[in-house]
Amino acid sequence: MNNKIKLLKKKREEALLGGGAARIESQHKKGKLTARERLHFLMDEGSFQEIGMLVSHRSTDFGMEKEKYPGDGVVTGYGTVNGRLVYVFSQDFTVFGGSLSETHAEKICKIMDLAMKNGAPVVGLNDSGGARIQEGVVSLGGYADIFYKNTMASGVVPQISAILGPCAGGAVYSPAITDFILMVENTSYMFVTGPNVVKTVTHEVVTSEELGGANTHATKSGVTHFACANEIEAIQNVKRLLSYMPQNCEDTAPALPYEVKAELRPGLDTIMPENASQPYDIREVIDLVIDEGSFLEVHKDFAENIVVGFARLAGRSIGIVANQPAFLAGVLDINSSTKGARFVRFCDSFNIPLLVFEDVPGFLPGTDQEWNAIITNGAKLLYAFCEATVPRITVITRKAYGGAYDVMNSKHIGADMNYAWPSAEIAVMGAKGAAEIIFKREITSAEDKEAKWKEMELQYSDIFANPYRAAERGFIDEVIEPSETRLKLIHAFKMLENKVVNNPKKKHGNIPL
Ligand code: HXC
Repeated sequence: MNNKIKLLKKKREEALLGGGAARIESQHKKGKLTARERLHFLMDEGSFQEIGMLVSHRSTDFGMEKEKYPGDGVVTGYGTVNGRLVYVFSQDFTVFGGSLSETHAEKICKIMDLAMKNGAPVVGLNDSGGARIQEGVVSLGGYADIFYKNTMASGVVPQISAILGPCAGGAVYSPAITDFILMVENTSYMFVTGPNVVKTVTHEVVTSEELGGANTHATKSGVTHFACANEIEAIQNVKRLLSYMPQNCEDTAPALPYEVKAELRPGLDTIMPENASQPYDIREVIDLVIDEGSFLEVHKDFAENIVVGFARLAGRSIGIVANQPAFLAGVLDINSSTKGARFVRFCDSFNIPLLVFEDVPGFLPGTDQEWNAIITNGAKLLYAFCEATVPRITVITRKAYGGAYDVMNSKHIGADMNYAWPSAEIAVMGAKGAAEIIFKREITSAEDKEAKWKEMELQYSDIFANPYRAAERGFIDEVIEPSETRLKLIHAFKMLENKVVNNPKKKHGNIPL
């Protein structure tokens, strides 16, 4: 028996070395951690249980039968993160560049199946040269198996992808299907076709970082939700993200103990500028309303005219969607609509109540927006709110104009509680534009056209640039002092805790894509 145990120990030691000491050193030289070091930082100490440590590839072409590494380039298993079960795979770049073989794919699929059966999140730590070139189509089949599992798991368990090295070609589509992507500046990149192919086809000269680095995807494409300074920061963000989520779609997110106390926030009474066209930072409002320091902003540098993220209110996890008056006046455009819609759908999939702060002058006009389908893209946000069945509350802080009023979680599309601050302006459009259209005759026939226009603008503004018309109709449940906002929200979300709404039975809806 002793010898047999020795043999097992030897095999385990071999597996722990991955592609060997030299390749580990080269990984470190690139400023990257190894697959196992990453797991060490992610999982609770001593909790990680490995599955498939001795799996090796079955390839025999190109002399591959002579080069085998136990584990085959991916460490898979389960353990706990902050005490909660999580399934994980961590690609090992030191073994064939973390490339995906048939067996490597089977290992990932195995833990995804377990995650779905047992209702716990999947975290993927990606660092891979893509399809195992020596395996050809078998490797492509492995990718497709993963894409299929990703899709089946979508909305069942949360899926998070940290990109910690290369992720190129079709390989990008697994992270793309998952719920959140995190990237690391300067050491990770994602693209469908790399700089060389780009140069050949389009004659553009571009570096990997410019084409598909963390900052590119955080600011330009929106592919990544977080651009992190280093791997440790990325792993910490994964852990923090998980803390706001339930384990699966039938669970609710863990709540921290909380006792309701003095909840007035006088600072909110002075945030709104006297002049309604002046900007302010909606994050200041968010920070004063939520539990201190609990905001985890998602997609921070992309479509900054909308702010989305997780927070806690009286210890409970909520998702926040807020127009940002400090950027493009908080207007809705293509990118902000898709950003908002995706976040709303994640929260709704996983029973996370939604809080909306609204200050929106409308949709962004122009050929760029129209030709690139603001109609279809704006409809995504509308659709996402309409079908969301989680508790939904809106606070209108200032402007709620036009179609954007309807879209931003209005009463009419199923919001449960709608509050407005006294500074709210709820109307078809701004008073100046409205006066120009409906009082055109009066203005053009007046001796002093400017003065007449101003007079009619004031008249329109007196009637509509306030929350009271909407409150009279019950579209607004209560006009509140800004300082009361936190207290009102705590009570309202508590009241909505057991909300049950069932949308009509269907195979699935057809969100405008
Ligand atoms: C097999 C691979 C590999 C791959 C890298 N390696 N990529 N082995 N299949 N796809 C091996 C290398 O041979 C090398 O082995 C080790 O990994 C490290 O690679 P290096 O090139 O030395 O590392 P580095 O300089 O950091 O460059 C990393 C890299 C480069 C940029 C990822 O290796 C590269 O371009 N690889 C090929 C990428 C690619 O074209 N993949 C296929 C994409 S198509 P040794 O033994 O020397 O350590 C695809 C389709 C998916 O993925 C479709 C899904 C639908």
